[in-house]
Amino acid sequence: MAAFSALNGADILVTGHTGFTGSWVCYALRHFGARIHGIALPPPTTPSMFHLAHVAHLLTSQRLVDIADHQAVFAYAAETRPLAILHLAAQPLVLPSYVDPVRTFQTNVMGTVNVLEAARQTQTVQGVVAITTDKVYANDGSDNTFTESARIGGHDPYSASKAAAEMAIDGYRLSLPSWQRNMSIDTARGGNIIGGGDWSANRLIPDYARAISSKTPLLIRNPNATRPWQHVLCLVHGYLLLLNRILSGTIKRSTEPLGEAWNFGPDPSDCISVAELMDKMAQNWKTASIETSHSSVYEANYLKIDPTKAKHRLGWRPSIAIEKAVELTAEWYKVYQINPEKLDALTHQQTENYFAPLT
Ligand SMILES: NC(=O)c1ccc[n+]([C@@H]2O[C@H](COP(=O)([O-])OP(=O)(O)OC[C@H]3O[C@@H](n4cnc5c(N)ncnc54)[C@H](O)[C@@H]3O)[C@@H](O)[C@H]2O)c1
Repeated sequence: MAAFSALNGADILVTGHTGFTGSWVCYALRHFGARIHGIALPPPTTPSMFHLAHVAHLLTSQRLVDIADHQAVFAYAAETRPLAILHLAAQPLVLPSYVDPVRTFQTNVMGTVNVLEAARQTQTVQGVVAITTDKVYANDGSDNTFTESARIGGHDPYSASKAAAEMAIDGYRLSLPSWQRNMSIDTARGGNIIGGGDWSANRLIPDYARAISSKTPLLIRNPNATRPWQHVLCLVHGYLLLLNRILSGTIKRSTEPLGEAWNFGPDPSDCISVAELMDKMAQNWKTASIETSHSSVYEANYLKIDPTKAKHRLGWRPSIAIEKAVELTAEWYKVYQINPEKLDALTHQQTENYFAPLT
């Protein structure tokens, strides 16, 4: 069977489709012929990848509602009758989680519960893939590499909310037999995503792009901090492998749990410091002037996750190395500055170039 063939013609419900990663997910799902139903709030930033790359044109339907509104989520799932749900909608940032922890937990925990419950009640749904983060691991500051069975816990409201979402998912997964419901629930844990089209506040690449556009200095909290940078298409690749696995019925239902956690981490050589990443952006684009600032907010040490399971069992690879990841990212923001009307063509081309050798 051709890779990702189970996605062709499949109705997939994507939560968070108006965001940075969600927009790339829509390009990749359309590439493989899926019918996309999106549920999210309006794009979280201005400008947004969603508008600039005309993501709405890729959708079969969409509904702009709060994921914490359970009736709205249940109703949309019942209407669209998807075969699978890819759950990305979240408050995805650490600093805002300190400002509004209640909203962060509401969105990230109850939003996830609402998606799981909608999936349970919608008999067409064969599986859910929920995107959490590498920050779900209880990071004790040691130099350990975390496998999927490591202890879960979070040191800030965002990380804790994602860890709590993982606990809710575990509870649902284990309860499914009691409900006589046959459905798979996977979680995908990855690192710091880079790529064109991100404008979130307090993220390095968007901050860099803003500094270039506004010709103002870029404030960096910790230039020596090493982070697990990954190109967005590498992560999207992992999510699609999980969806395809659910839809192609390749999960051996008698011997494997119905869904599990998966690490999609970068190669250690691609984990570079903030200062090194800035240098690479300068080489591929323009040099931003950089100032170092200090923050009292807790920042976890770099945390390594082990993707061996995804490599062996899914055939996933972090196939864009850091040099190429920065090149693709810089290319996107350059086109944004010069020719924004070409961004849908560029996004389409980057998606095709990534997936063509894999199919
Ligand atoms: N970007 C990263 O570096 C990174 C790293 C690890 C994990 N993640 C996870 O990936 C997912 C996507 O992250 P992103 O960076 O693309 O985020 P983003 O902010 O660009 O997009 C978030 C999406 O969620 C939607 N959303 C937010 N609150 C909502 C609510 N209350 N109801 C309905 N929709 C809501 C937004 O409308 C948007 O579509 C998140 O689950 C995030 O935690 C991201």
